[in-house]
Amino acid sequence: MLGNFTFENPTRLHFGENSLEHLKEELALYGKTVMLSYGGGSIKRTGLYDQVVNVLHEAGKTIVEDSGVMPNPTVEKLYEGCKLARENNVDLILAVGGGSVCDYAKGVAASAWLDGDPWQTYYLDYKDPEPSLRLLPVGCILTMVGTGSEMNGGSVITNHKQNLKIGKVFDSRLMPKFTILNPKLTYTVPQYQMVAGFFDIMSHLMEQYFSNEDDSTSDYLNEGLMRSLIHSSRIAVKKPQDYEARSNIMWTATWALNTLVGKGKRQDWMVHMIGQAIGAVTDATHGMTLAAVTIPYYKYIMHCGLHQFVRFAKNVWNVCPDGKTDEQVALEGLNALEGWMKEIGVAMNAAEVGVTPENIGQVADATILGGGFMQLTRDDIVEILRRAL
Ligand code: NZQ
Ligand code: ZN
Repeated sequence: MLGNFTFENPTRLHFGENSLEHLKEELALYGKTVMLSYGGGSIKRTGLYDQVVNVLHEAGKTIVEDSGVMPNPTVEKLYEGCKLARENNVDLILAVGGGSVCDYAKGVAASAWLDGDPWQTYYLDYKDPEPSLRLLPVGCILTMVGTGSEMNGGSVITNHKQNLKIGKVFDSRLMPKFTILNPKLTYTVPQYQMVAGFFDIMSHLMEQYFSNEDDSTSDYLNEGLMRSLIHSSRIAVKKPQDYEARSNIMWTATWALNTLVGKGKRQDWMVHMIGQAIGAVTDATHGMTLAAVTIPYYKYIMHCGLHQFVRFAKNVWNVCPDGKTDEQVALEGLNALEGWMKEIGVAMNAAEVGVTPENIGQVADATILGGGFMQLTRDDIVEILRRAL
């Protein structure tokens, strides 16, 4: 393991079909006023809302309703949530939903008592909350799998006026204090969102995997998670209510982005940077924006990190290297990835997520530049997007 790092993760996880039973004991650790944050209504349709409200009442809590957190939560909604949390002096934010609700809850938790503009402070200037600032605790009940937001400090907010979608990674003070992971709550997620979430997990794993030259335990852990995801996703797309598959995927998603497999790795988040830029311009579903550019992106940079693409082909996709050049093996790995993507049904080109020859420049302008094996320029982004169309 190269590098120096600290691993700390304070989120307590309750996993399984009976995990909601732990909500009451968690609530007992916080004050009386709970802000109940949720999305556009799926939790009301599934009956989860009533279940959670009952537990809150049993626990003697006062509920502050905070509905309408949209997919790709906006800066306007963040401001609204901060006002609500501050005016009601809430003691806990309970986020019930997918990554968008969890991300938003962390944003509010960091910003409710901030004097100043959270968009400028955290998302544009990337500052961390001052030690003296009151931060609100967040608890999550996850209903959609993919982002890893349930066990990390990530909070992605979209500013449509500025054409920007930016992820702030807060430190462990803002990671959820607890998360309830009941795989059955994900059964009602529409197929399009479900597979977008599956691809989001794969993308998180690949973005941490494709960097470095050293032999790293992080990569062995990562390969195991990728293999499990590929196996279970093939079952879940055919049979969405297969508990074994959905529960494995839920557990994989959490470990894919709780910082563990990124330890000792430089990492390369360019697929996410391009995907987020597409999201800022078109508001498309996060996982699909990633899928749309993944194959062109990795083919573009492959020659700079060939050894890791060969390893990916052999260890994740069982490509036999006999009699083949490294380049052939690496390409076979990417072809296998492409085949799996088609099989589960994700976006296979950028047009599907709203990119057009006319808005490519706008997406490139919104992309935060960086890289791993290769440092990318704006011209590279334009070329990758052109190839992705
Ligand atoms: O709003 P409701 O009505 O709840 O509907 C949601 C939403 O329309 C629906 N849904 C969720 N659970 C459901 C359900 N529908 C039926 N049954 C259920 N059980 O699914 C739709 C999408 O939900 P959303 O939360 O937006 O999806 P996801 O979990 O993919 O979150 C996406 C957001 O997370 C950010 C993305 O950028 C995006 O803004 N990310 C956060 C990360 C992090 N914290 O580390 C990392 C990721 O890379 C990602 O960027
Ligand atoms: Zn993601």
